[in-house]
Amino acid sequence: MARAMKVAIIDDEKDMRQSISQWLALSGFDTETFESAEAALRSIGPDYAGVVVSDIRMPGMDGMALLRRLMTLDSALPVILITGHGDVPMAVEAMRLGAFDFLEKPFNPDRMTELAKKASHARRMALDSRALRRELADGTVLMQKLIGASAPMVRLREDILDLGQADGHVLIDGETGTGKTLVAHALHAVGPRAGRKFATISCAALSEERLAMRLFDGDTDGGVALCEEARGGTICLEDIEALSPALQARLLTFVNDQGTPPETRIIAICNHHMPDKTVEDALRADLFYRLSALQITLPPLRQRGDDVLVLFERIGAQFADEYGCEPPKLAAQEAAQLLQAPWPGNVRQLINVAERAVLQNRRGSGSIASLLMDDNEQVGMALTTEGKPLKDYVDDFERMLIDNAMRRHRGSIVAVMEELCLPRRTLNEKMAKYALSRADYTL
Ligand SMILES: Nc1ncnc2c1ncn2[C@@H]1O[C@H](COP(=O)(O)OP(=O)(O)OP(=O)(O)O)[C@@H](O)[C@H]1O
Ligand SMILES: [Mg+2]
Repeated sequence: MARAMKVAIIDDEKDMRQSISQWLALSGFDTETFESAEAALRSIGPDYAGVVVSDIRMPGMDGMALLRRLMTLDSALPVILITGHGDVPMAVEAMRLGAFDFLEKPFNPDRMTELAKKASHARRMALDSRALRRELADGTVLMQKLIGASAPMVRLREDILDLGQADGHVLIDGETGTGKTLVAHALHAVGPRAGRKFATISCAALSEERLAMRLFDGDTDGGVALCEEARGGTICLEDIEALSPALQARLLTFVNDQGTPPETRIIAICNHHMPDKTVEDALRADLFYRLSALQITLPPLRQRGDDVLVLFERIGAQFADEYGCEPPKLAAQEAAQLLQAPWPGNVRQLINVAERAVLQNRRGSGSIASLLMDDNEQVGMALTTEGKPLKDYVDDFERMLIDNAMRRHRGSIVAVMEELCLPRRTLNEKMAKYALSRADYTL
């Protein structure tokens, strides 16, 4: 649903790289294959938007040498190595050098997919926070990135400014793609700790041992643990619901030793990967109460009304700029489809749809409806009215359509009448009913 992650597959055996590539492509990855480490290095840069799967034994530069090169290029790049049967010492060495994981031949393709998914999750997080860190110095930049003027978004901005100044730990939750990670960064950036370290880690992407090392113990090569590195700043724990009981106990001790106000602030993010289990169920009660002193719940996109169109326009314009083509123009019917869509993947899904709409536009084919259909069918979600009476829902919807058409036509009543196929009198009545005034659009 999000922009597909790339997987670079490196193997000197053609059959092997093709079958891995086909398998991963079926799972939704954007795959590319290379017959040698040298060829892969020519096309993989430091911010590579994906992960690497490489065989170890290859003529020329082998997988281990490739791993070393990649780690100096970008130490956060997940590299999965495929080892021959019995290469255990080599696999151990690979892990020490920073490999994400390894697979022993012959491997189960499902296991490969599972690892690639875990690795992409870690990669996406690393890239997101890298991009955000470049903007960290200025909290206002991050606040401006949060597009939306709906009531829940206005309240969210106020909450960020308030809680950013406060001292307690924060728990952020909300559906996938609603902006939790962005808000975590903003909370840090607008507060008094802005000049201090913001360290982020996913409790789901690492094994328990590695997580313990990263968080509390540091590693044998002198790598400093996050709780040390982020002292006086903020530690952001993504996927907090995945934290094991043993590590929850250690985290509780850490939190209890912080004093009041806490020296290091914790922002825990719950990612709702388990729909049947809330974060309150997943964490021990004492830890949950410590971490949820302050709480922010991100509203799903379908509850943000007109923001959907504002986001679509702004993000569509950015992509149009990037691809050097015209921004997509929404017809009333398309705007209606966007407003009606259930958006199970929230803002991230909308970004994806906006990008594809721009590309479709450039090709001159396709429709918004088909883009939405692709996405929503995958998730199998139905349109929901969120328990509102149908009439209110229809009214809100009608108001948004008229408001949007008026904005696009800069208050031209004739153009709006034509687009919405409404006689002038009906349009005037509806505008009066919804307190819309033509003068507001003619500026
Ligand atoms: N209000 C917003 N305005 C503009 N962009 C937004 C907004 N909210 C989120 N985004 C963008 O949407 C994408 C998803 O946001 P983010 O990664 O913060 O969501 P998330 O809730 O952390 O998702 P996940 O559950 O997958 O971790 C990012 O590219 C982010 O910059
Ligand atoms: Mg996130």
